[in-house]
Amino acid sequence: MPLITLRQALDAAAAGAYGVGAFNVTDLVQAEAVLDAARTTDSPVIVQTIAGASAHGSDEAYWEALVHLARRYDDIPVVLHLDHGATFDDCARAIAAGFTSVMIDGSLLEDRVTHASFDENVAVTRRVVEYAHARGVSVEGELGTIGGSEDGGATVKEIVLADPDDAERFVAATGVDALAVAIGTSHGAYKFTSPPDGSVLRMDLIAEIAARVPGTHLVMHGSSSLPADLREEINAHGGALPESWGVPEDEKARSTKLGIRKINQGMDSHMAYIAAARRFLAENGMAADPAPFERAGRQAMEQMVADRMHVFGQAGQAYRHRGVREPVAAGA
Ligand code: 13P
Repeated sequence: MPLITLRQALDAAAAGAYGVGAFNVTDLVQAEAVLDAARTTDSPVIVQTIAGASAHGSDEAYWEALVHLARRYDDIPVVLHLDHGATFDDCARAIAAGFTSVMIDGSLLEDRVTHASFDENVAVTRRVVEYAHARGVSVEGELGTIGGSEDGGATVKEIVLADPDDAERFVAATGVDALAVAIGTSHGAYKFTSPPDGSVLRMDLIAEIAARVPGTHLVMHGSSSLPADLREEINAHGGALPESWGVPEDEKARSTKLGIRKINQGMDSHMAYIAAARRFLAENGMAADPAPFERAGRQAMEQMVADRMHVFGQAGQAYRHRGVREPVAAGA
C-alpha cells in the first residue's frame, strides 16, 4: 500500500468514529518504533515531525530517509505529516521530500511569538492549501493558539482558545482538510497544575466546532497524558521533570466521540523512550555504544504507541485502506 494522505486517513476515521494518533518522531529509530506499533496493531498511522527539531543534521536528509522508511511498511496505511510548519517554505520543502500532509501553523507570525491576525492566518494557510492540493497533499491549519512549546524549545506560548464562528469562517476561506483547535491543551512536559477539569480542558468546544465545520477534521494537539510512573522513572535516573498533569486517557477516547480525528502525541512517546534509555544507561555503566540504549528506548516507545492506538480506536482499522490507490496530483 502506498503512503496515504491525511484526508484519506481522517475520512476513514470519521466513517468509523475513531481517532488516529499522530506521533512525533525526532529520528529514524523513533519512526521505526511508531511504524512497528502500527504494524503490530494493524493500525493506520500518522508519523509526524517538525522542521529543525530532529537529531539529524539536515531536515532534507532526515525527511527523505523517513519517506524511504515509511514506504517499506507497505502493508499498513501511513501518513507522513509535517507538524507545525512555520512558513510556506517549510511546507513546500516537506512536500518536495515526499510527505503526504503538512500543517501550516499560521496562528503565529514567523517569529513564532507574535499572534497572527485572523486575516494573516487565512492568507498563509490558503496559499499552502492551493500549493499542496495541486500536488495531492493534505493540509492542517491552526486556529487559536495551543500553549507550551511544541519542539521542546524555550518559546512558551499563551493559550488562545479557538472560536466556533472563526472556525467556520477559517475553513470556508482556506479549504483546509484538518483544523487544530485550541481547547486548553499545551505542548510539552508541563501542562496542567492539577488534574484538568472542564474549566481548563474545554471538551465542550470540540462538539460545538465540529458541528460548524462538518467537512473538516478536528485535531487535538498537546494530547500527552504525562504518565506519573514514567516521570518518576526518569527522575529516579537523573531527570528533573516537574510534577504536571496532561490529558487523561479516557478524555482522549471521549474526544473521538465528540469529533476529534487526529490526536497529536509527542511527549508520552518521548517519556517512554527516555525512561527506558536512562534506566539502561544507569544499569550499564560500561555502555559506550549508543545502539543498546536506543534499542531499549525504541522498544519502550513502540509499546507506549501500541497501547495508545488501542485507546484512540485506530487498532485493527488498517483494513479500511486496503486497495486505496496512491493520491495523484489534481489535473494529472
Ligand atoms: P504533546 O507535547 O502533548 O505530546 O503534544 C504534541 C503535539 O501536539 C505536537 O504537535
